[in-house]
Amino acid sequence: MDLRPVVFADRPDLHEQANTIFSAGWPEFIFHDRIADRYLERVQAFFAHLSLLLLDADDQIAAGGWGVPVGWDGTIGDLPGGYDDALRQAVELREANGRADTMVIAAAQVRPDLQGQGLAALMLLHLADAGTRAGLTRVIAPVRPALKARYPLTPMARFMTWTGPDGAPLDPWLRTHHRMGARMLCAAERSMVMQGSVAEWEEWAGLPFPESGRYIVPGALAPVMIDREHDVGELVEANVWVQHR
Ligand SMILES: CC(C)(COP(=O)(O)OP(=O)(O)OC[C@H]1O[C@@H](n2cnc3c(N)ncnc32)[C@H](O)[C@@H]1OP(=O)(O)O)[C@@H](O)C(=O)NCCC(=O)NCCS
Repeated sequence: MDLRPVVFADRPDLHEQANTIFSAGWPEFIFHDRIADRYLERVQAFFAHLSLLLLDADDQIAAGGWGVPVGWDGTIGDLPGGYDDALRQAVELREANGRADTMVIAAAQVRPDLQGQGLAALMLLHLADAGTRAGLTRVIAPVRPALKARYPLTPMARFMTWTGPDGAPLDPWLRTHHRMGARMLCAAERSMVMQGSVAEWEEWAGLPFPESGRYIVPGALAPVMIDREHDVGELVEANVWVQHR
């Protein structure tokens, strides 16, 4: 398939199509990360050049993805805490006129009917290229493993070590990165935090939570903690930091 990258902001005529494709298939709670919400508007304004679409010959969207620039010294200890923290660091660095050197690929998504054909790798390569053009010499990503929701009780630090018969990661999305030569660095334990009232969480999960405690919610990478006394529900999701070559 012949696909060409375009900057998302350059094609407002495709934003409705993008919204339909990219908001489908996610559990509702994923849209309620308050830390990310605080920064996303500025991310779009500051880093429009790092947000891309892949289009087919008929201007139909095949994939999309975006990233943010951070400063990183290459050590595990200096990595952002995860997805949320990468957005925060990128915005704060930019507002302080600091110099970024590392592209954090924050999200990549392939149109559902085109998944399983290797398009994600193409999307990641175009995002890495956009980073290179912006002077970002390293590429990292807090990967949200596709299969982890089926193992919500397993710590991410264990899950990320699981391999299939071929020795590659068991998780399909980690496998895509692995095939591209990326290496896993560590678990990002607090990558995304989704917090709301108990009523909000009941609505997002489509489940009543009659007592305080830990609940398994479809699509969540870890159990959701419900605290009825303080009227808080919280899901802390770990991701996996990978570094591309
Ligand atoms: C994760 C995602 C980007 C991967 O894109 P992709 O182009 O399908 O990736 P690949 O073609 O490299 O496929 C990777 C593996 O997943 C498998 N796979 C992909 N889509 C699949 C599907 N719908 N059902 C079952 N397996 C699937 C592929 O067979 C492949 O497995 P293999 O390693 O055994 O060959 C894509 O599935 C997606 O958009 N998912 C929803 C959004 C998301 O989770 N994004 C990541 C977090 S931001």
